[in-house]
Amino acid sequence: MTSKTITRRRFLQTSAAALGLAGLPLASAAEGAAPQAAAAGTFKIGGDLAVCRMGFGAMRITGPGIWGEPADPVEARKLLRRAVDLGVNLIDTADAYGPEVSERLIGEALYPYPKDLVIATKGGLTRPSRERWEHDGRPEHLRQACEASLRRLRLDRIDLYQLHAPDPKVPLADSIGELARLQREGKVRHVGVSNFSVDELKLARGIIEVVSVQNRYNVGDRRSEDVLRVCAADGLAFLPWAPLASPEREAGPSASIEALGQLAKRRGVSVIQAALAWLLARSPAILPIPGTSSVAHLEENVAAAALRFTPEELARVG
Ligand SMILES: NC(=O)c1ccc[n+]([C@@H]2O[C@H](COP(=O)([O-])OP(=O)(O)OC[C@H]3O[C@@H](n4cnc5c(N)ncnc54)[C@H](OP(=O)(O)O)[C@@H]3O)[C@@H](O)[C@H]2O)c1
Repeated sequence: MTSKTITRRRFLQTSAAALGLAGLPLASAAEGAAPQAAAAGTFKIGGDLAVCRMGFGAMRITGPGIWGEPADPVEARKLLRRAVDLGVNLIDTADAYGPEVSERLIGEALYPYPKDLVIATKGGLTRPSRERWEHDGRPEHLRQACEASLRRLRLDRIDLYQLHAPDPKVPLADSIGELARLQREGKVRHVGVSNFSVDELKLARGIIEVVSVQNRYNVGDRRSEDVLRVCAADGLAFLPWAPLASPEREAGPSASIEALGQLAKRRGVSVIQAALAWLLARSPAILPIPGTSSVAHLEENVAAAALRFTPEELARVG
C-alpha cells in the first residue's frame, strides 16, 4: 500500500487495533496498572507550571465538526475525568470549540480542579456557523472572550491563555497588548500564542513574555520547525496540534510517515503511539496534546508517554 492510497482513518487504525500496550516498555503496563502521563517527563510552562509532557486536546469532545453538544455528554465528561486519572495535567481547549461546549464540559467534569491541573484555553477565533472559523483579534473581543472563558471554566485566573491565531485585519501588537492588560489585571497567568510564524512570535515577545506556541506539527508536517527551534532555545513550550500525522494531509516527506509506520509495526505499537513517541523524542520543548473523543483512544495515546525509541530507530524516521 502506498502512502497515497492510505486514508486518514486507515492510517490512524494501522496496527492500532488489538495491539493496545503490547510491546511497550511500560513498567505500569507490565504490572497491569493504568498507563501514566508522567512517564513522558515534565515541562515547566512559564518556568512555574510543571506539567506532564503528555497532555490532552479537548477539541474533539464536542459535536461533529467541532460544533454543538457531543452525542453523549456523559461519555465526554467521563473521558475528561479518565484523562486526569491517567495523570494528564495539561488540557488544551478554546472558546471556539463547540463553541463554548468544550470549556463548559471541562468545568462540569473536573471542577473543583485538581491543584496541579493546567487548563490552557484560547481566544481570537469565532464560529458564526458549523462551517466557519473566523478571526477576531480586536482587543475588545479578546477581553470579552477571556472573561467568558473564565466564567465557563469557573476560574478566577486562566493559567495559560493563548491567542488562537493572528487576525490579519488587526495589528498583532493590538491583540497582544490586550492580552498583556488581561495579565496585568490578574485574569491570565501566562500568555501563549498559536499559529504564529517566527516573526510574529518575535513581535509578540517584544510586548509580553510569551511562554508557549501552539502550531501544527507532526512527523509529516514540519513547517513549524523554525518556530520549534526558537521555543527549544528559549525555554518556551511547543504544543503541536494535529500531532497524529495523516499521509494525505501532510506537507512533509511521506518517507518519514512510511518509516514511522514500519517502526510501529516492528515494535508492536500503534502508529499513533509511535507518532506521539516521535514527538516526545524530537525535542524536550514539545508537549503533545492528542485529541480524541474515545476513552480507549485516550488510554492508548497516554500509554505512548512511556514509549522510547533508540537513536537508530529515530534516525530511520528522519
Ligand atoms: N491551535 C489550533 O489552531 C488548533 C487546531 C486544531 C487542534 N488544536 C488542538 O490540538 C489538539 C489535537 O489536534 P486534533 O484533535 O486536530 O488532532 P489529532 O490529535 O492529531 O487527531 C485527532 C483525530 O485522531 C483520532 N484519534 C485520536 N487518537 C486515536 C487513536 N488512538 N486511534 C485512532 N484514532 C485516534 C481522533 O478520532 P477519535 O475521536 O475517534 O479518537 C481524531 O479524529 C486538539 O484537541 C486541540 O486542542 C489546535
